[in-house]
Amino acid sequence: MSTFYAILFIVATLVLVVGVARRVYLYYKVPAPLKIPTTPAPVTRAGVVLRMFREVVFFESLFKATKWTWLFGWMFHIGLALVLVRHLRYFMDDDNVFWPLVELIQPFGVYAGFAMVLGLLGLLGRRILVDRVRYISAPSDYAMLLLLIGIGAIGLAIKFIFRTDIVAVKSFFDGLWVFDWQDLPMDAPLLIHLGLVAILFLIFPVSKLLHAPGIFFSPSRNQVDNPREVRHVADWARKLEE
Ligand code: HEM
Repeated sequence: MSTFYAILFIVATLVLVVGVARRVYLYYKVPAPLKIPTTPAPVTRAGVVLRMFREVVFFESLFKATKWTWLFGWMFHIGLALVLVRHLRYFMDDDNVFWPLVELIQPFGVYAGFAMVLGLLGLLGRRILVDRVRYISAPSDYAMLLLLIGIGAIGLAIKFIFRTDIVAVKSFFDGLWVFDWQDLPMDAPLLIHLGLVAILFLIFPVSKLLHAPGIFFSPSRNQVDNPREVRHVADWARKLEE
C-alpha cells in the first residue's frame, strides 16, 4: 500500500507541475488582440500591480459584486492558504530559513482549516439554494466543492479524532523524492485524505481551479488603461507588420 501511494504521489505531482506549467505557457502565448481593461482601470504598470494585489489578496471586484459569495469565497481561500503553509512542516526541515514562519502559523492553521471548510459549505449552499446560480452550475462545479470539502473535513478529523503518526507521514514524503520509500501509517482517514489530495493534483491541470494561475493572464485585469497614449498591437499582429 505504501508503494502504491509512493507511485501515486510521484505521478500526481508530475501531472500537477507539468500540467500547470503547460497551461501557464499556453495562457502566456494566447494573443490579447484588444485593449480591454475593466474600467476604471490603472493608467500605469505600478497601478496594475497594485490592483492585481488587491484582487488576489482581498477579492476586491467580488466584494463589489456580491457580499455573500465574497465572504464564503474569501474565507475558503485565505483558510486554504494558511492550511497549505501549515502543511509545509511535512516537507521542510527545521533548519530551513522559512521554518520560523511555518512554526508561527501552526495554531492559526488549525482555525484556518475550519474557516476553509465553512467557506466551502457556504459556496456549496449558494450553488444549491440560489436559483440563478443553480441554473448555471455544472456537475464539475459541485464535484470540485465536494472534493475540497472532503479533503478539509477528513484533515480536521485526523487532527481532532483519528490521530495519525505525523512523524511517519513526514518521513514518507521526505523519502519519496530520493526513492528511499518509507512506510505510511495504515490509517484509513489518512489514506483517504491523501487519496483525495492525489485526485486533486491529477485533475487540477484540466479543471476550473486553473483560475488560480489564470487570473494573472486575464487581459481585463492585467492591462494598463492607456489606449490613447500607446497604440495597442497584439504580438502576432506586430509580427505581420514587420
Ligand atoms: C501531500 C499533501 C498533504 C499531506 C501529506 C497532508 C497531510 C495531513 C495530515 C497528516 C493532517 C493531520 C494534521 C495533524 O494531525 O496535526 C492534515 C490535516 C489537514 N489537511 Fe492535509 N495533507 C495534504 C494536503 C492537503 C491539501 C491540498 C489540503 C487542502 C486542499 C489539506 C487540508 C487539510 C486540512 C484542512 C487539515 C486540518 C487542519 C490541519 O491540521 O492543518 N491537506 N493533512
